[in-house]
Amino acid sequence: MKLCSRLIALALLAATGALAQMVVMDREGCGETKGCLFKPAGCDPMRDCTIGIIFYVSGLNLLSIQVVATMLLPPPPLQYIAIGFSQDSSMGDDMITECVISPVADEFSMEPEVFVSYNIGKSNDRTYLNETEQNILIRDVKGEAVNGRISCQWAQQIIPQIPSHGGRLWNLNRKYYVLGATGSAQPDEVNAHDTSMGSHFYPMVSARPINPSVIGEKIYDLPPPYVAPPKPTTPVPPPTSPKPKPSKKNSANGSSSGLALPLFISIFLYCFKLIL
Ligand SMILES: *[C@@H]1O[C@H](CO)[C@@H](O)[C@H](O)[C@H]1NC(C)=O
Ligand SMILES: *[C@@H]1O[C@H](CO)[C@@H](O)[C@H](O)[C@H]1NC(C)=O
Repeated sequence: MKLCSRLIALALLAATGALAQMVVMDREGCGETKGCLFKPAGCDPMRDCTIGIIFYVSGLNLLSIQVVATMLLPPPPLQYIAIGFSQDSSMGDDMITECVISPVADEFSMEPEVFVSYNIGKSNDRTYLNETEQNILIRDVKGEAVNGRISCQWAQQIIPQIPSHGGRLWNLNRKYYVLGATGSAQPDEVNAHDTSMGSHFYPMVSARPINPSVIGEKIYDLPPPYVAPPKPTTPVPPPTSPKPKPSKKNSANGSSSGLALPLFISIFLYCFKLIL
């Protein structure tokens, strides 16, 4: 029996790995310490928002972003939820960050991914970052697909400390209209979101421009904008062939949480037998 209680404690510990993926969104602080956009207006982001976005300063040069959307029907293999920053309230010339998640994968195997992209006119174009840049700009990605909802959370730099990729990465310490949209996604790009005005999935936009960098419980000084290091004057050695991408970042956590439930159940059954 001692062994059993130990095993159960261990299994519970492993199960908390699965819980760590959960995205908890609430309306408390909206308009004060958090920027919030919800559709329909009075919805509960943990239950019935067709789309919802919450953002706030969460640390030094970091903006935390939480997004939620109703799963599209029938569920596409991949669905995105995007937050956009725009100088005006219409689509075109907008900096986008999108979370892509599989609504159909079972909850223990899916891994949300966050990308940056740019709206060129009415079409969206992914901004390709190398792995180093990606890890500098975006961190702490988590997400889940449960009960007909998908949700994600991540933190991104307010003043990107990487090259702007041709002006596509913006400093978020000025006022922007904030856009939100969801739709199905391809591995390399997002598909057009629903463009019929009456649709629940029609994108939403903030009523006025918002400076994301001044919304939070605590505001930090921001670093200066990124400046490319001076070009070396000595001849550069020939570029080495790109290293193979390591497997998915979350694999350690993913696999441990993936094992947690079956493990827990088998331990429980085993222990139950012992009692009988
Ligand atoms: C990624 O891009 C940065 C420039 O932002 C460059 O300095 C770095 O060498 C690149 N890393 C790789 C692994 O290609
Ligand atoms: C696993 O999750 C923990 C916290 O939930 C985090 O600190 C750690 O970096 C994660 N590890 C990987 C490999 O993602």
